[in-house]
Amino acid sequence: MRVLVTGGAGYIGSHACRALLHAGHHVVALDNLVRGHRAPIEALARTNRKGAAQISLVEGDAGDTKGVSEAMRAHEIDTVLHFAALAYVGESVNEPTRYYRANVTAMVGLLEACEAEGITRIVFSSSCATYGDPPTGMIPVPETCPQNPTSPYGRTKLMGEHMLLDFVHAARLANGGTGRPVSVAMLRYFNVAGSDRTGVLGEDHTPETHLIPIAVDAALGRRDGMAIFGTDYPTPDGTNIRDYVHVEDLIDAHLRALESLDPKANTCEAYNVGIGKGYSVREILESVKRVSGTDFPVREEPRRAGDAVQLFNDPTKIRRELGWAAQITDLDEIVRTCHEWRKAHPEGYGE
Ligand code: UFG
Repeated sequence: MRVLVTGGAGYIGSHACRALLHAGHHVVALDNLVRGHRAPIEALARTNRKGAAQISLVEGDAGDTKGVSEAMRAHEIDTVLHFAALAYVGESVNEPTRYYRANVTAMVGLLEACEAEGITRIVFSSSCATYGDPPTGMIPVPETCPQNPTSPYGRTKLMGEHMLLDFVHAARLANGGTGRPVSVAMLRYFNVAGSDRTGVLGEDHTPETHLIPIAVDAALGRRDGMAIFGTDYPTPDGTNIRDYVHVEDLIDAHLRALESLDPKANTCEAYNVGIGKGYSVREILESVKRVSGTDFPVREEPRRAGDAVQLFNDPTKIRRELGWAAQITDLDEIVRTCHEWRKAHPEGYGE
């Protein structure tokens, strides 16, 4: 396949680029470098085997229809992995218009390019944030859970899903068996964590808001302790529960989803990607303390706006239909990969 990876210079996107290259696909990373970095793409290009599939970086916005169309044509792209997005729940509450522009408006532009260039396969990064707080009896969360997001971020991802459903429906109507079909997978990520175990790629966000990297930085003495946002939730220890999936397992789900897409059919399937086990914020902090061998101060602060109480996956569908199951299920191992990279890269990618 010849794959355009939007957001390819970002944390998850760069891990996807690496796996696609290794699977022998030609990769073009498209990134506006607002939160992405040149360094991971340069590192992948540098360490790539001679004569193997190639990777290149196109600097641009996923919503720039003309620019994206040109890149698709120049590289004869047939497949799109759409990662480019803003993805902080808390930030989306304070800056909703920024989120609607980056995640919704830009996606309209991208889909126009996909339509114009006859893209046949799309994999979309959706989120379990589209579920909001699942009703009683829906935890662990199956794909059939009602989607009622509690944050602007979750709403932008749900809108992305609706656009894709409409996009595929229109293709089905227009084709009448004659036109070019499009096959789509929407992956609803739970909490993605850890990094590439060879140590080439990592998580370098500015600002960093995610729990595991923040706790690791506290353990490494790079922050003056950290805060737990909310200790009065209706959970066993009062803190939020999430399902932390290792980024390499998440990307394996993308490759499986890609392989499952039939370029001759109009389909649009959603899959949850999470290991199927929830950990509380306090359990995560214990793991970081174990892995780092360091204690650090933890403050108890009020709840963060937009946070759902408890989210962890029911992996039945993805296991049954894509044969996917997380391989890295030990929490300490997930935390260890994050700890190793941050320890070795005090300045992140240094850009
Ligand atoms: N938390 C703290 N202290 C911190 C940071 C986070 O207590 O310093 C808590 C949060 O309140 C939350 C949990 O840790 O309860 C996890 O927070 P993250 O920010 O790491 O992750 P989120 O669950 O908010 O969001 C992430 C991704 C989203 C995705 C979502 C799905 O950023 O893109 O997981 O749950 F949609």
